[in-house]
Amino acid sequence: MAGQGAFSEIIDGDVFKYYADGEWKTSSSGKAVAIINPTTRKTHYKVQACTREEVNKVMETSKTAQKAWAKTPLWKRAELLHKAAAILKEHKNPIAECLVKEIAKPAKDAVTEVVRSGDLISYCAEEGVRLLGEGKFLVSDSFPGNERTKYCLSSKIPLGVVLAIPPFNYPVNLAVSKLGPALIAGNSVVLKPPTQGAVSALHMVHCFHLAGFPKGLISCVTGKGSEIGDFLTMHPAVNCISFTGGDTGIAISKKAGMIPLQMELGGKDACIVLEDADLDLAAANVVKGGFSYSGQRCTAVKVVLVMESVADALVEKINAKVAKLTVGPPEEDCDITPVVSESSANFIEGLVMDAKQKEAKFWQEYKREGNLIWPLLLDHVRPDMRIAWEEPFGPVLPVIRISSVEEGIHHCNASNFGLQGCVFTRDINKAILISDAMETGTVQINSAPARGPDHFPFQGLRDSGIGSQGITNSINMMTKIKSTVINLPAPTYSMG
Ligand code: G3H
Repeated sequence: MAGQGAFSEIIDGDVFKYYADGEWKTSSSGKAVAIINPTTRKTHYKVQACTREEVNKVMETSKTAQKAWAKTPLWKRAELLHKAAAILKEHKNPIAECLVKEIAKPAKDAVTEVVRSGDLISYCAEEGVRLLGEGKFLVSDSFPGNERTKYCLSSKIPLGVVLAIPPFNYPVNLAVSKLGPALIAGNSVVLKPPTQGAVSALHMVHCFHLAGFPKGLISCVTGKGSEIGDFLTMHPAVNCISFTGGDTGIAISKKAGMIPLQMELGGKDACIVLEDADLDLAAANVVKGGFSYSGQRCTAVKVVLVMESVADALVEKINAKVAKLTVGPPEEDCDITPVVSESSANFIEGLVMDAKQKEAKFWQEYKREGNLIWPLLLDHVRPDMRIAWEEPFGPVLPVIRISSVEEGIHHCNASNFGLQGCVFTRDINKAILISDAMETGTVQINSAPARGPDHFPFQGLRDSGIGSQGITNSINMMTKIKSTVINLPAPTYSMG
């Protein structure tokens, strides 16, 4: 149960505490932020509404703790990360329960998210030891006009305080995908979890606390974005921001100072299906990619672009699979569960109504109860419909019939998003050509888009993001190169 057993110290009455200076604390604001259960639409948990003064204190301790942490041997940092990973996995059930209640993640997927996060932390520890244990040695006489009088030793040093802001759909996994690389690289971390997902994140942070990380190295502040959001992202003590979410990331990028940014801001991942595709494979991936976690993944298949000649056959196969999706509460591990909030459900409904008015073909009747929206396949979608371009972040999937591959590629590249895309064909040569033509961060051949495995590079073009993630890239991004140059009085080869 949330806030019980090993987690009893993280709650005060019915309000979860925030984490600062190695302790669980109650905010001086005396205010709490309610977390609404998407299924019941009632308040399920409450978290502290932290104040700006509390953020200031957190930044101060974070800076101090980072200085000592940067001097902690790499193998010790790795050891603590391995310990946190084991504790996290040990407590997978209570944390998964929070995910079920806060974000309506299906029960099995919730457990998977926690286990995947433990694995990610361990991988960060191992990769960090390899990556940060090596540097470069350069000699000066490779550049014109120089003798061999300079030895350059370069290695990677931490940035300082990393502000980590994960989204509601993976409040644990996309938090540790920032925490793990930041910590192994010698940074401290201030985590601002999403409101919906905050309690899961606080439980995850407690696992790091139990592992014995130094005081102040990891902090977790909760509260309203309107009160502390800009204050955090524009705080002068922050040396790096790693953000995953929506449009807010664009606003953050414009306001942030001269610091490295890692942004993952959504996608409209296209699935191009060619005439020679294995249609069973394509249909299975379209349904898995489009409807897992009710379509609330930035990497979800968000538009199917299918060649006209095979469109009827593909749509029939997709519909047969959609009919088998179970719809209901996350506790029963249903495939389709309520979307995260009422405003999200209303937004999805707006896209559906626009498509209806413009005469898309509905293969299922549109049905909604509260935040629960039944899976819906919209066929014969045209570019003048909003659903052709906007991301519903819900269980609604548009199909656009195309008469040439070029038409599909054009649609994909005309999107303001460019996260991932996929292509289904039996012709690998064609697949490679299409992959090169699709302007997205990743193209999957014969499989649905996905971020994982978590050590793969993960990046988006255009409004989908800044920089590249994946464990190795994140560690690199959260470090700077530092050089020491040994200047010699004479060329090193002058003797003998
Ligand atoms: O929602 C954005 C996530 O980065 C997607 O991750 O592909 O593992 O579902 P996923």
